[in-house]
Amino acid sequence: MTILVTGATGKTGRHVVRELLAEGADVRVLTRHPEKADLPPGVTVVKGDLTTPENVSAALDGVDRAFLFPVLHAIPEFAEAAKRAGVGRVVLFTGAWAAGHNERDRGSWVYPRYRAAEAALAGSGPAEWTVLRPAPFATNALWWAPSVRAEGVVRLPHPDAVCPIIHEADLAATVVRALLSDDRHGAHYTVTGPAAVTQAEQVAAIGEAIGRTLRVERIEPEQWRSEAERFLRPGIAGDLLREWSETERDPATALPVLPTVQELTGRPARTFAQWAADHAHDFA
Ligand SMILES: NC(=O)c1ccc[n+]([C@@H]2O[C@H](COP(=O)([O-])OP(=O)(O)OC[C@H]3O[C@@H](n4cnc5c(N)ncnc54)[C@H](OP(=O)(O)O)[C@@H]3O)[C@@H](O)[C@H]2O)c1
Repeated sequence: MTILVTGATGKTGRHVVRELLAEGADVRVLTRHPEKADLPPGVTVVKGDLTTPENVSAALDGVDRAFLFPVLHAIPEFAEAAKRAGVGRVVLFTGAWAAGHNERDRGSWVYPRYRAAEAALAGSGPAEWTVLRPAPFATNALWWAPSVRAEGVVRLPHPDAVCPIIHEADLAATVVRALLSDDRHGAHYTVTGPAAVTQAEQVAAIGEAIGRTLRVERIEPEQWRSEAERFLRPGIAGDLLREWSETERDPATALPVLPTVQELTGRPARTFAQWAADHAHDFA
């Protein structure tokens, strides 16, 4: 079975590729930068951009199933191209905000954008599709690596903000199950980690993993926003600040912990302590 993996050079995508190869799939990837891709032997690499229709058509030729990375404005075109190419199934992840768990999530900047992407896949893509809606990624803690390495400190506007963040290997495992199982299509799954964790607890776990006591310094939300908007779209930065301030004030408004990883993969979701151990090298 030939499976196209987009986003294969990203943090989740690399796990998807490794797991699919281990399952014996014939893996093809689409990347804009094959020279830097550094993918395992046995993978077929196609150079291209998800936003360029000719690249997408070439990548989909002869493909049985595909994992679609959420470059949101490229999704409607990809869905139609996949259907035209006779692809049997597409698996997409968006984000847990798309589940509209509460009023805050339904009012977020990203909610209508995720929902439109999901609707485009369901409406114009292949008959078999699965949408995974992951909780915020544990890998967001990598934003803290430079100040941890240089000063042993993490500066946060809402240190007690809480969320069941997900390990990228668990998200990848759910993607692989959705690609390979025959009974996971036509559904949306919200995927979370195994426990609600505050940001201050994440910092402590990273300190534990690297054998250093790390400090948390509270900063003004606007200071965080002005730095974050150098690498995050303003709408996302605003969504994050709203979620953090509300879950810090009232943890009951956080995304609930869900058993989806266990249900889809048969294994418990990895803890943040596990993530910190897996990524200790990034912070040391
Ligand atoms: N951070 C969170 O907490 C969170 C939570 C839920 C959902 N999300 C969603 O996850 C996505 C970001 O994930 P990430 O930061 O983990 O990604 P990442 O590791 O930085 O990976 C980005 C991947 O996307 C590929 N890519 C990007 N633009 C592309 C394009 N135009 N054409 C082809 N490939 C393209 C890159 O491939 P090449 O560079 O090799 O071409 C790379 O493999 C966002 O869409 C976000 O909405 C994030």
